[in-house]
Amino acid sequence: MTEENINVITANIKELTLSQLVLNDFHAAEVLEKYHLDFCCNGNRLFYDVCKEKGLEHNAILSEIENANKRNHELKFDLWELDFLADYIINNHHQYVKQSGTIINEHIDKTAAVHGKNHPEIIEAAKLFSICHKDLKQHMMKEETILFPYIKYLVKVKNGAASFEAPYFSTIRNPINMMEAEHQSAGDIFVKIRELTNNFTLPSDACNTYKAAFEELNDFELDLHKHIHLENNILFPKAIEMEKEMLNK
Ligand SMILES: [Fe+2]
Repeated sequence: MTEENINVITANIKELTLSQLVLNDFHAAEVLEKYHLDFCCNGNRLFYDVCKEKGLEHNAILSEIENANKRNHELKFDLWELDFLADYIINNHHQYVKQSGTIINEHIDKTAAVHGKNHPEIIEAAKLFSICHKDLKQHMMKEETILFPYIKYLVKVKNGAASFEAPYFSTIRNPINMMEAEHQSAGDIFVKIRELTNNFTLPSDACNTYKAAFEELNDFELDLHKHIHLENNILFPKAIEMEKEMLNK
């Protein structure tokens, strides 16, 4: 985040939404995550209001975001062409969900089998994660076979490499509405898992698999939130605008 950006944020702090903070600087994602500030499914909420509700000092959080940015090179997702962004989401986030989800399922199932008697909440968390992973795989398949190819087609039309024809689903808003509802469901499942596990707090008798499962769930949730942010707050609204221009021609 540049000094200029910080000034912009400070000047408009009461009007800034959680998703705008992450749009302005992707490093904000990790900092907001740390304070359980949901920037993807509830990204339209005002940062200042949510901080106040939770008793958090908003200026301290902004400083943390600035420091996170200094440590890392920033990817300019907002400047990318949508076909490139769609491929990035598939190659980075979708691959991660597919691969890590299977490993997490194994670890959490093993934890539930060994510790479920003393900690029945882990059995419920394992069931919820399994549902979430299964649903996400189906969700990503719909994106990879229907929605993202259509977005890539819109980019081709924009670049003059294809002529526009309205899709069989009438407008992109229809699949996007469905995808956003599915994002919300995945986010809600993680809220439940966090409640059940008291924010992934390990019991005193936790074994190494228990620890690994909680760390992996935490990482999975952070990646999921970044992933949903890229779709809900960048890819989808830009694709809607792109299609609107073509439908109006
Ligand atoms: Fe998605």
